[in-house]
Amino acid sequence: MASEQGPHSRILGVGAYAPERVLTNRDLEKLVDTSDEWISERTGIKQRHIAREDETASDMALVASRRALESAGLTPADLDMIIVGTISGDVPMPACAAYLQRKLGAGPIPSFDVSAACAGFLYAMSIADQFVRTGVHKHILIVGVELLSRLVDWQDRTTCVLFGDGAGAAVVSPAVGDGRGILSTRLYTDANLAESLCIPGGGSRESLTAEGLLAKRNKVKMVGKDIFKAAVKNMSQASRAALDTASMPTDGVRWVVPHQANLRIITGIAERLDIPLERFIINIERYGNTSSASIPIALDEGIRDGRIKPGDTVLMCALGAGISWGSALVRM
Ligand code: ACO
Repeated sequence: MASEQGPHSRILGVGAYAPERVLTNRDLEKLVDTSDEWISERTGIKQRHIAREDETASDMALVASRRALESAGLTPADLDMIIVGTISGDVPMPACAAYLQRKLGAGPIPSFDVSAACAGFLYAMSIADQFVRTGVHKHILIVGVELLSRLVDWQDRTTCVLFGDGAGAAVVSPAVGDGRGILSTRLYTDANLAESLCIPGGGSRESLTAEGLLAKRNKVKMVGKDIFKAAVKNMSQASRAALDTASMPTDGVRWVVPHQANLRIITGIAERLDIPLERFIINIERYGNTSSASIPIALDEGIRDGRIKPGDTVLMCALGAGISWGSALVRM
């Protein structure tokens, strides 16, 4: 996946969106047996954004996508493909990307979802990179969007305090030979931990019955400790692999934009990579874990507030259900 003659595709524009409503740790204290202290110390999260009842994943993706297109100087008519990383699309079928295509008013371009949970945005980026580098497509919209507030059990304190809703998007376009662009991507899946983070019911294996709904088989179940250990180890390994593929030393990385699942996971990765925490873009305290949306939301924030500058090398890494994980090294 490395490029010998420099990058073939680049990120032309980025955009993000989070719903207006904010749910703080103090608010959660009224819902479940938890405390601001526990959530802050164990995760770094202080608040998260929650979608309106009438808001869908494709509505949130639409706002982020329009912002990304605007920053790229493009319109929906310029797009050749839409890839949405999500596990919480509007309906099980068709794809969230199909609804997004209709709302954007894009042409009959291929539009599909990628199911890689928190790694969905990096999966979408890697797929887009392949289509652009082969010359098949020019401008590809990639999106990470999750409306996890509808998929968590609001009585389960081990999961409901972690997640938030949001969307982030980017446009992947051909590189112009100035060294800026996607330098390398790495993707992995290991299903041995599939049951440690999953929604057990509602698919072809287990149809939803009245009993299943009562047992909340349609909600997120997680063995947090297993995922925590895998996240630190595998996100560090994938980051190293992305650097090796591009023959880049860690010193060459200006910013790390990690998936925002837990501040302690991010700290663990910083230690393993020997990159100071000051070079990480971190906003988990305000958004919680927005799954596939977390990297593009943090990337957008870093660009808009001027920390990430044109030419800066940015390392991204994520891990989620599957377990699926990955990394990307991009010169912005
Ligand atoms: N408030 C108060 N106490 C709590 C809460 C809570 N919200 N949740 C759990 N506890 C209690 C537990 O019951 C346990 O009590 P006990 O000791 O009496 O049994 C104690 O706190 C410790 O619980 P642990 O699960 O051991 O806590 P841990 O330090 O492992 O932190 C956490 C839990 C935050 C979930 C952590 O394991 C984690 O971040 N895991 C990774 C999550 C993640 O990365 N998910 C990935 C992506 S999500 C996706 O792909 C969609």
